[in-house]
Formats: sequence, structure tokens, C-alpha cells
Amino acid sequence: MAIPLTILPGRHVLDTKPGTTILKSAHAGGVDITATCGGRGRCTSCRVKLVAGTAPPPTIMDELQLGDALVREGYRLSCQWPVTEPVTVQIAPPLDDTTFQILGGERPAGAPEPVSIDAGIRKRAVTVVLPKDEHQQTSDVEALVAAAGGTVEDVPAALLKGLPATLRDRDGRVTVTTFGREVLAIEADDTALHKFGLAIDIGTTSVVTTLMELESGEQLAAVSSLNPQAVFGGDLMSRIAFAQFDAGNLRKLQTRIIGLLNQHI
Ligand code: FES
Repeated sequence: MAIPLTILPGRHVLDTKPGTTILKSAHAGGVDITATCGGRGRCTSCRVKLVAGTAPPPTIMDELQLGDALVREGYRLSCQWPVTEPVTVQIAPPLDDTTFQILGGERPAGAPEPVSIDAGIRKRAVTVVLPKDEHQQTSDVEALVAAAGGTVEDVPAALLKGLPATLRDRDGRVTVTTFGREVLAIEADDTALHKFGLAIDIGTTSVVTTLMELESGEQLAAVSSLNPQAVFGGDLMSRIAFAQFDAGNLRKLQTRIIGLLNQHI
């Protein structure tokens, strides 16, 4: 029979299978408890404090990591606490984001000049001759390929839907964006000078996304955050262990990072 486990703040009540640790139950229920060592009892990040109910006798790991004083106050490592009766616990305050120094996009004084980059993206403004009467049987795609002068072979299906309207928006004046011979985008008018890209550095601790001007390599803006995967392990090996035998856990790691990248974008 499931045992109610209440986690503060937020008052999450989770039905927990007897013997499941508080950490596992929290993660399964979508409650974030940071587990820097991946639940091996080797850090203090997952500590919780008893609010109501009875705390289990401290384990060796509790004693080693938390020390006598905290254990007596009711602190335990949530990864070492199997739920056997209804309890209410409070998550210890998370590590303060400001304790991490995240390298942002700014170039420190004295740093070397930026190198020039070639992202392989080409933008080319062309004028497409549009059919004027119904006897001209040239398709829009053929007209575009002809105007692009052999730099493109075909237009991907995903871009076909918007092609007729884009071509007619500025009387056939469009900008074709390519990577190699692959067409990535077709925009109305001449936008050849607008070439932007994102450089994303996914680190174990932090994630930095930089908006780049692709021609000059200039950094236009940068945003950084702590890597949200850290709640499932503070280092790479802990995260590999977390994901190795459970596809659901792998999915959790992936969802976390994609969610953050979407925010950055
Ligand atoms: S001690 Fe519990 S996650 Fe590190």
C-alpha cells in the first residue's frame, strides 16, 4: 500500500511505495531535489529536514556527510531515507546560483581578437522571374532554381508550402539561405546581410548560449544558466549512472536540457 510522503516547500503529496527513498520518490513525482553525487550518499545536496513524522535512525552516510549536529536537528540525506511511514520533509535550500561563476559572452580585457569563422551558411539575394500568364508552364520551384544559377538543386518539401506567397511578396525578389547545396530558408526581399546563428556550450555545470553574427563572428548577446540536469547528478559519471539502465531517466535528462535551450533561444 502506498505511503503519503509530503515534501515542502510547495506541499507536494506523493504516494510512495514502501522502501522507496525520498529522493527517488521526489524525482518520480517531478519534485526537484538536487542529487549532486547521483544518490550515492557522497554529498550533502539532497539533504532534507524532518517536519512531521519520525526520521529513521541516521545511516553512516548521514553521519559522515551531515555531522552530528544536523542529524540531531532532523536532517537526513534523502537518497538514504527509505519511506516506511507517512512523513513530511522540507527540502534544504538549494545551492545559490551566485556561488557558480558562469563564463558569459563578454570578452575580457586583454583577450585575443575574435577569429573569423565560416559557418558554411550562404545567403544570396536573387530575382525570380515569375510566370506572367497561364501559358507559361514553369513551376515556382523551377523558376527559383533557375534564378539561383545552379547553386541549389531542389527545394525541400517543408519550404514548398510558403514558396508561392514568398516569391510574390516582393515581385520575385527573395533571399535563399543554403548550407552546401541544401536550401534552409527562402525569405522575401533582400536579407542577405542578416546572418545570425547560436553557439551553445552545454557544460556539466552551466550552459551558455551566444547569439553570433555569422559573417563577422561578432557576439551580439549571451545568456547563461546552471545546467538543470544537475538535480540528477553533479558530474558526468553520476548522470551516466542515472540514465544507464532506465530509458525514462535518460528522457528526463533530455527534457531538462531541451527545455532550457528553448528558454535561451
Ligand atoms: S548524498 Fe544524496 S545525492 Fe549525494
